Amino acid sequence: MKAAIYPGSFDPVTFGHLDIIRRSAEIFDELTVSVLNNKTKTPLFSVEERVKILEEATKDLPNVKIDSFSGLLIDYAKAKNVHVAIRGLRAITDFEYELQIAQTNHKLSGGRLDTMFLTTTLEYAYLSSSSVKEIASFGGDISQCVPEFVARLIYEKYGIGENG
Ligand code: PNS
Repeated sequence: MKAAIYPGSFDPVTFGHLDIIRRSAEIFDELTVSVLNNKTKTPLFSVEERVKILEEATKDLPNVKIDSFSGLLIDYAKAKNVHVAIRGLRAITDFEYELQIAQTNHKLSGGRLDTMFLTTTLEYAYLSSSSVKEIASFGGDISQCVPEFVARLIYEKYGIGENG
């Protein structure tokens, strides 16, 4: 069985992430989307909230599981006996950072963890969780960036009604 992990912050999940999830789920028999519990960042959504959001957003994909992890990705992948990590590439600006992480993970894992990159569908190339949060915090329209139920939860966090 071919399995992969798609790690990330997913704070919040965007249509860009969902595009990568859907396409990876077609390539692998089982895909685990895993939320990083990063104690050094102050996220908008807690890990538990992000897991719930991802579960709802991927409920039509039977071979996608949602999980969370803390610590090193290579340790998490080893414990799950998974050898492929998925990452999405939006633009050349993502590449340098992602290349460094992928090579570090490959080296640190003794060659056991490979990273597979999927290029984001052009339609979502501009999207990032940070810009979605910034737009929403000013009451802007994020309907083209995230599913409707996610948009509602984001506006709620900022204490504003939808679209202002
Ligand atoms: O969605 P993000 O924030 O771009 O995801 C980054 C992520 C979670 C893939 C990366 O930060 C990660 O794997 N962190 C876990 C810690 C780790 O393994 N670091 C080693 C890489 S040098």
